[in-house]
Amino acid sequence: MTKKSYITTPIYYPNDIPHIGHAYTTIAADILSRWNKIRGNKVWFLTGTDEHGKKIEIAAKKKGKNPKEFVDKLIPKFKDAWKKLNIDYDKFIRTTDKYHEKNVKKILQKVYDKGDIYKGEYKGYYCTGCEAYYTKKDLIDNCCPIHKTKIEKLKEESYFFRLSKYQKKLLDLYKKNPEFISPKNKRQEIINRVKEGLNDLSISRSSFDWGIQLPFDKKHVTFVWFDALFNYYSGANGNWPADIHLIGKDILWFHTVYWPAFLFSVGIELPKKVFAHGWWTFDKEKISKSRGKVLNIDELISIAGVDSARYFLFRATPFGDDGDFSEKALIDRHNNELADKLGNLIQRVSSLIEKKGIEKTKNKLLKKLNIKKIEELFENYEFDKVLNEIFSFIDICNEYIQAKKPWETNDKKVLYELADSIKSVGILLWPFIPETSEKIAKQFGFKINFDEIEKPLKIIKIKKSDILFRKI
Ligand code: ME8
Ligand code: MG
Repeated sequence: MTKKSYITTPIYYPNDIPHIGHAYTTIAADILSRWNKIRGNKVWFLTGTDEHGKKIEIAAKKKGKNPKEFVDKLIPKFKDAWKKLNIDYDKFIRTTDKYHEKNVKKILQKVYDKGDIYKGEYKGYYCTGCEAYYTKKDLIDNCCPIHKTKIEKLKEESYFFRLSKYQKKLLDLYKKNPEFISPKNKRQEIINRVKEGLNDLSISRSSFDWGIQLPFDKKHVTFVWFDALFNYYSGANGNWPADIHLIGKDILWFHTVYWPAFLFSVGIELPKKVFAHGWWTFDKEKISKSRGKVLNIDELISIAGVDSARYFLFRATPFGDDGDFSEKALIDRHNNELADKLGNLIQRVSSLIEKKGIEKTKNKLLKKLNIKKIEELFENYEFDKVLNEIFSFIDICNEYIQAKKPWETNDKKVLYELADSIKSVGILLWPFIPETSEKIAKQFGFKINFDEIEKPLKIIKIKKSDILFRKI
């Protein structure tokens, strides 16, 4: 039976063009999705944009546009960015899509009818940058803990969701499904906070109107997170529940507390896993549009190309950890690993085969590639270690050429072993660097599919390859 995987990214705020942080999660989803595809699994990969709320309204106003006009101009920038980065998603959802708005209204009505929504007054803090409510003790020097900007005090009529009612159910969920919050080291913090107690959550605003109207009170629009989280359900295309929500650690609370509580209330099955990765920083400061430090997608690609960018982001730091971005570190990896190790191997082997020919034999070299381990690492989202395994094997291949000296011995069997090993490397690298992998596959004549790893390479005419990674 073919397995089906439903993979999501956050839906990003189109208050500006996408940046490296957005690219990071989206590439991760693409890597997982491509990994599933080479394993013969079906994938539904959803991404999109989160278009309602005060934050967007303010950004639009600054440009003198109405919010819908404003976001309509930005959405193509997101789609272009994902295209340039070779992100092969299945669906792009916008929260202004009519089917989604209708869906959210239906759900709000259902939760209201159930008695989980009541009217009250919200008095407290709100950070528009985060689109989140804060209590006094969350603040640092009266500023938002994330944006470090001065925080707004709100007092307005609001509807509340009975979040407190779901405390026990949430704690049970974390206990019964320890995998639900991943990676492990982020789980306990959520559990501790939920144990401290949950306040009911304000889920509507009445002081502006860029949002989905509450079906039972037209003076209110729903809190943007109630709208946004349900994108995963609206865009599921029959694939619900999601297998994995990939997100950054900044929005773990929303995804592991509010989201399951909303789903409990409506009676919809829960997603299987939420995985929160770390933050990329510049000089240890979080990259953030609202704080001015950013690298956009064109800038990222211009450093050393698409595949080098994709490779670097997942090679340099473990997926759950923070990483400090540096152009120099990216260029170093491009030169020392992609050009000198991978590029060099392909170049040497292809040019030797062109000159000396190739002869089929059993590939003993391949035993040095630990495929079982790579599979396990993938299951644990340890992408940096997957790449480490593959590149260790590339080192072994390069050492093998040095040791066997096929340019002196004219040993065509050694060249076959190397070409057949390149097949495995090309297949396993496809999730990370698809463009390069496809070039290698074409050159050496193999299909990009996990099953092909075990099958001996069919001999075709191999010519010296072009340079895959030019040194910078
Ligand atoms: O939070 N490092 O949208 P957003 C790593 N609309 N990842 C980063 C990053 C960084 N410096 N900066 C951003 C929202 N990200 C909501 C989500 S989902 C129902 C609604 C990535 O535009 C990371 O995935 O602020 C983070 O969680 C997301 O972008 C936030 O994007
Ligand atoms: Mg944000």
